[in-house]
Amino acid sequence: MPVKILMVCLGNICRSPLAEGILASKLPKEKFTVDSAGTGSWHIGHAPDSRSIAIAKKYKLDISKQKGRQFNTSDFETYDYIYVMDKSNYDDVIELSKTQEQKNKVQIILNELYPNENVDVPDPYFGMPNGFDIVYNMLNEVCEIIATKIKETHS
Ligand code: 4NP
Repeated sequence: MPVKILMVCLGNICRSPLAEGILASKLPKEKFTVDSAGTGSWHIGHAPDSRSIAIAKKYKLDISKQKGRQFNTSDFETYDYIYVMDKSNYDDVIELSKTQEQKNKVQIILNELYPNENVDVPDPYFGMPNGFDIVYNMLNEVCEIIATKIKETHS
C-alpha cells in the first residue's frame, strides 16, 4: 500500500495543486501517492488556475490535468498525512474531524520549515502577479523537507 499525502487549500486551484505537483515530483510514485483538495466547493471539477499552471510549467511540472475536488471526511481515512496551506484551512479541516487520530494527521505545511510558528502560505488568488512565484518557492522549499522526512520514515 502506498503512503498517501493530501494537500489542502481553500479553492484547490492555486496553492494545493502546486503543492501536489511539487511534492509528487520529489517522491517515487511506486511508494507514495500525492493528491489535493479544497475546503470550498466553488472549483469542483475545474483545472488549476492558469497562473498556477504557468508557474509550474516554468519549473518543468505539468499540473494542468488536475481536477478540483472538495475535502470530505473520508479523506481522514484515506490519507496518512494531510497538509493544509493556512490557519483558516486548518480550522476548517479540524472542524470536520471526529477523533484525535484524525486531528493528528493534519499539519500546517510551513510548520515543517518553521516549527510551531503557524505561518500561512499566502493565498495568491486575489494578490499580486508575483504571488505565484513566492508561493512556488515556499512550497518547493518545504516539500523538499517533507520528501526527505517522509522517505526516511517509510524506508
Ligand atoms: P487557493 O486559492 O485556496 O490557493 O486555491 C483560492 C482560489 C479561489 C478562491 C479562493 C482561494 N475562491 O474564492 O474562488
